[in-house]
Amino acid sequence: MEPLIVTENLKKVYRTGKVETPALRGVNLQVQQGEFVAIVGPSGCGKSTLLHLLGGLASPTSGKILVDGNDFSRMSDAERTRFRRHKIGFVFQRYNLLPTLTARQNIVLAQHIQGNGFNPHRFQMVAEMLRIADRLDFRPNALSGGEQQRVAIARAVICEPNILLADEPTGNLDTENSQTVLAMMRTLNRSLQQTLLMITHNLEAAAAADRIIRMRDGQIIED
Ligand SMILES: Nc1ncnc2c1ncn2[C@@H]1O[C@H](COP(=O)(O)OP(=O)(O)OP(=O)(O)O)[C@@H](O)[C@H]1O
Ligand SMILES: [Mg+2]
Repeated sequence: MEPLIVTENLKKVYRTGKVETPALRGVNLQVQQGEFVAIVGPSGCGKSTLLHLLGGLASPTSGKILVDGNDFSRMSDAERTRFRRHKIGFVFQRYNLLPTLTARQNIVLAQHIQGNGFNPHRFQMVAEMLRIADRLDFRPNALSGGEQQRVAIARAVICEPNILLADEPTGNLDTENSQTVLAMMRTLNRSLQQTLLMITHNLEAAAAADRIIRMRDGQIIED
């Protein structure tokens, strides 16, 4: 079977004025549809950069990304954005909730953007599972860090994307909420055959995955 995600010699160099920071130094990766992959490695080794590139949120300096047979470099920004909205859910390391919207609006907006009809049953189920049902009418700045993180997860999973990219989704959660989030991801992965790439520093979270990729200095050192 063709892998769902393929990268070929993927490189990313950030340029800030005259300073160059090589964040990815040639990443070759293949992920099959339905796999649950944990990405681990020290701070600054390029994990978030890799996830952003796979999500079409940034462009590589060189190398190739194919998702479901689509070559990102051959797509316009608009095409990539449309592709992302329909296929990919993204949980950001810093949540990226819209500050002027309530939790509910942040989550519902994702459904509208995707053009899916609002599904109140699914919405309620996800909100209850993530224990944010009584916080939905608050704006992000009135929510705890862990609550904001769970809203960000709800926003990413509400549309049942084919691919879920999650950047430390349990980074700000206590044990109980981490376990709930992991169980939910496992369920989505198993029941919907959703492909899951999750960055984590949490060993328990990594253990829940089918496969662990270790990164260091912008490269995969163990798979
Ligand atoms: N916008 C940027 N401009 C310049 N350098 C950047 C930028 N974003 C990231 N970097 C640098 O690129 C490298 C990789 O960063 P990245 O965020 O991918 O690391 P990470 O593995 O996710 O780390 P962490 O575990 O701390 O989140 C780091 O050295 C970082 O300082
Ligand atoms: Mg990161």
